[in-house]
Amino acid sequence: MKKETAIVTGGTRGIGLAITKALREAGHPVAAIYHGNEEAAQKCSRETGASVYKADVCDFEACQKMVMMAEDDLGPVGIVVNNAGITKDGVLHKMSLEDWENVLRTNLYSCFNLSRAVMQGMRDRSFGRIINITSINGQKGQFGQTNYCAAKAGMIGFTKALALEGAAKNITVNAVAPGYIETDMTAAMKPEVLQTIVKQIPTGRMGLAEEIASLVAYLSSKEAGFINGATIPVNGGQYMC
Ligand code: CAA
Repeated sequence: MKKETAIVTGGTRGIGLAITKALREAGHPVAAIYHGNEEAAQKCSRETGASVYKADVCDFEACQKMVMMAEDDLGPVGIVVNNAGITKDGVLHKMSLEDWENVLRTNLYSCFNLSRAVMQGMRDRSFGRIINITSINGQKGQFGQTNYCAAKAGMIGFTKALALEGAAKNITVNAVAPGYIETDMTAAMKPEVLQTIVKQIPTGRMGLAEEIASLVAYLSSKEAGFINGATIPVNGGQYMC
């Protein structure tokens, strides 16, 4: 039986790349969306067999077009992983409007843009899996991240509301909340700040992208149909809620 087509935003690097790989291993055609890094996109395509599409997830119309293209190429979309995200860390009293807006648009508006583009099709086919990659920091707050925490907390509210709307049509909507994971994003932090944070993780180490991806693959499966509206932490015990 043909597996559902999946879209993974930010799907060619970091956590998104691990999710693309996991969904490919589970047999899904995957449309991995990227924004700027051509080299990483081509490598992802070669190594995973995913189809890669360049699109700005902040742009509503670009998302609509990209979904249409992916559906023409790979078939109706049954799974969306809203993973694309950026940080623009800084204390609020120094934060520019631009840094506030860029983070909100990339991390939160993108969830609306992608979900809106696929929802009618999922409703018509009575199946859907939407997985939003939020963050431990959207749950607990983090010094220097008012923009990021607002966006990530917003994703959790979005997840719960859409989970109610989709349920009767067999569309589940869940969030995964990673803690500190070994990626380019955490590698860009000041080493002394990162060290302080790692000391707060009971497992004594950062997480791996694959440890997020395996959960996303499960939530994407038919077997996970009774998990809906959940926010699942994957943070080594750093924050329990
Ligand atoms: N709590 C309280 N006060 C703090 C603090 C904290 N956690 N961190 C810093 N401060 C204080 C400092 O002691 C300093 O105070 P004084 O001026 O009185 O000495 C003041 O705040 C300014 O601190 P910095 O020198 O660090 O200021 P900065 O402007 O150079 O840097 C910052 C600010 C960039 C936000 C830096 O604090 C930082 O990088 N914080 C960590 C942000 C973070 O965790 N980002 C995660 C990125 S990865 C990610 O987001 C993925 C995910 O989902 C988990």
